Amino acid sequence: MNQPDRQQDLPPPYEIESSLPTRFPRGWFCIGAAYEFTNEPVQLDYFGTSLVAYRGQDSGKLHILDAFCPHMGANLADGCVKGDSVICPFHEWSWGSDGFCDDIPYAAKIPTKARIKSWPTMEINELIFIWNDPDGGAPIKEQEIPLNEEVAEPGWTPWIIRRVPVGNNARELIDNMADKAHFGPVHGLPSVDKFVNISEGHTYIQLQETTHEALGHAKSCATYYGPGYMIHSQSTTGGTQHESNRFMSLVMNAPTSLGSFEFLAGFKYRIPEGMEDDRDAQINHVNEMVDEFADRGVFADLHIWKNKVPINNPILCDGDGPVIRLRQWYDQFLVPVDQVPASMKERKIYDKSEPRIEWPANMIME
Ligand code: FES
Ligand SMILES: [Fe+2]
Repeated sequence: MNQPDRQQDLPPPYEIESSLPTRFPRGWFCIGAAYEFTNEPVQLDYFGTSLVAYRGQDSGKLHILDAFCPHMGANLADGCVKGDSVICPFHEWSWGSDGFCDDIPYAAKIPTKARIKSWPTMEINELIFIWNDPDGGAPIKEQEIPLNEEVAEPGWTPWIIRRVPVGNNARELIDNMADKAHFGPVHGLPSVDKFVNISEGHTYIQLQETTHEALGHAKSCATYYGPGYMIHSQSTTGGTQHESNRFMSLVMNAPTSLGSFEFLAGFKYRIPEGMEDDRDAQINHVNEMVDEFADRGVFADLHIWKNKVPINNPILCDGDGPVIRLRQWYDQFLVPVDQVPASMKERKIYDKSEPRIEWPANMIME
């Protein structure tokens, strides 16, 4: 490897530039599996505020409102659901799913100001999503989360979602998509044979092929739809540890503050033979598989994210993936809609399949 001539070329110690974005990203954020939300109101803490989520009794639809009642400040998550409204526990003002107060049991007239924020939601792929736009814009039609046909196939277990709080900005997690060089040291993969990133509009795709003696040859496709939701499917063949296997995972973030996010990891496996009618056994099976691979799967990055500094000016080398391109893609969610460059819609392919990366054996985690 060529190194600078230390006698003649002495650069000063590099100064890391570190700062956080000044606003939350715009887009759809997944907050969990559909079955996790019921008629019982629950408090959520995202985007620097508190929210209440509940399913309407009439519609079955998931509604999300600001959590605190503007009458005298009680927490609507301590209330109850009636029809599609949530009833405040303090004086029983009733708040409709559109955020308007629709009943006050002891008043003749509802104050005209009695409205709280109602957050757009969508339910698809057995998951719940919330729309966030710091400028107050409605969901963007083209950015709706699409139906994933693999999820819709019969024969999958339910999603298992695990949540971990991380005290860092969510951009640190996004970097993973382009970070070709971390798969050996962090995830224990001895070689990345193919590594392609595709940026197009609000989507960003990572195609990857890897080889591991125990896990076999893996083909994976991971796609971000907007800044918070990444769905990934992988099939492996030829490993010694398991028979050919197919699974899907979710790598997601929901910002809690500008310097923290909730990491949500989701997993779905093919239902093993004999477990077709036993949902509890399916859930146990997924949990066992997740635990078995936890130290080299999606949780392996956590200690890095938790302890790293955000770096605006990384020193990159030719073997790295398109980290800067990925960050430019992510930046579109951090500016108002009318400031997103038109070129962002173009399909751009970054093929970093060569050179092939081989890590020394002592860097491989077993
Ligand atoms: S504080 Fe909610 S009804 Fe009074
Ligand atoms: Fe990673």
